[in-house]
Amino acid sequence: MIDRLNSYLEEIKENGNYRILRYIKPVSTTKIIYNSRECINLCSNSYLSLHNHPEILKAAKEAIDLYGAGICSSRSVSGSIDLYRELEKEIAEFKGYSEALIFSNGYLANIGIISTLTEKDDVIFSDELNHSSLIHSMRLSRAKKVVYRHRDANSLEEKIKEEKSRKGKFFVVTETIFSMDGDVAHLKEIYELKKKYDLIVIVDDAHGTGVFGEKGTGIEEMFGLQGAFDVQMATFGKALGSYGAFVLSKGTVIEYLINRAKTFMYTTALPPSALGASLKALKLLKNDFTYKNALWENIEYFRKKLNEAGFNLKDSIGPIIPIVVGDDKDAVKMQEELLQRGIFLQAIRPPTVPKGTSRLRLTIVRGLSKEEMDYAAQCIIEAGKKVGLL
Ligand SMILES: Cc1ncc(COP(=O)(O)O)c(C=O)c1O
Repeated sequence: MIDRLNSYLEEIKENGNYRILRYIKPVSTTKIIYNSRECINLCSNSYLSLHNHPEILKAAKEAIDLYGAGICSSRSVSGSIDLYRELEKEIAEFKGYSEALIFSNGYLANIGIISTLTEKDDVIFSDELNHSSLIHSMRLSRAKKVVYRHRDANSLEEKIKEEKSRKGKFFVVTETIFSMDGDVAHLKEIYELKKKYDLIVIVDDAHGTGVFGEKGTGIEEMFGLQGAFDVQMATFGKALGSYGAFVLSKGTVIEYLINRAKTFMYTTALPPSALGASLKALKLLKNDFTYKNALWENIEYFRKKLNEAGFNLKDSIGPIIPIVVGDDKDAVKMQEELLQRGIFLQAIRPPTVPKGTSRLRLTIVRGLSKEEMDYAAQCIIEAGKKVGLL
């Protein structure tokens, strides 16, 4: 096995696709130390910079004092401490759904939902750029999988028509905002198709929650479609600043997942600190839109700089900004160049993104100062010129 793995690793290196872990030490909301050098972190998903908000830290510590460092049991055994109920109620209300169920993370939640709710005669229609957890979950499902073109409702409808003769249920699975491209699914069109073909729609709002919509509840709110779909999955581990994930749906679906979703039933419940932190984050956001508004000021400020410099930011609209370089090695070169100048971000390469679309994926967060953004934009522009992007 070792020889086999070594040969694969050689291949990965030759393709410019090799990954290493970069161990860092966070020193402020937006700065980290890497290799003894202070860098601006331009790849965190803590969009609202809540991960070190003093009130959230206090709530996490209080939860530890009350409930301990870990729960050390699954939800179905002795893991369902009362904080779960409180948080599930709060998140369902925030998102406009009747019920919520907390999973240990988004990957497990997606695997649990899709492998549990779909059956042999069903068909799952999946956007071609869906997240790995959604793709993986479909591999575990016995339903037929059909991939439609990215954000293309016409392609989805064509594929639906091709499967007309099947007798099972039709599911559509899509991210709301795509994690590597920062663009948004055509949810209005998908909603129309849902009504027309009686589809069951599952949306993943991991990167929309806390960021989009007037009240920051997510992409459904932005489209005026809050609670319109059958199942929504989203996470506490991005804009909400902590860890964990939740599934939103009707009571029957939640009840069934509690009884049948293996990735819910057979894993240790989240630690109390994560629950306490998420609960506080929701309470802060419910009454105060300044967090979200400050994030959007930064997003607009930074995007304007990159647009004016001539970067093609594709159809991205929010805090996730893809700079597609194309070649894997050029993407790494640009990343290394930026690291030299104190900008910490990662080159995203296949299999995370399709071949030939290697990129830098920048994320803008609320805590970035104008000076940090000015400096980062300048460095990105200069690095972009070096690899021939500008
Ligand atoms: C779109 C999407 N879905 C699901 C997940 C998984 O969530 P988690 O990190 O909580 O496992 C991610 C996280 O990377 C994601 O980007």
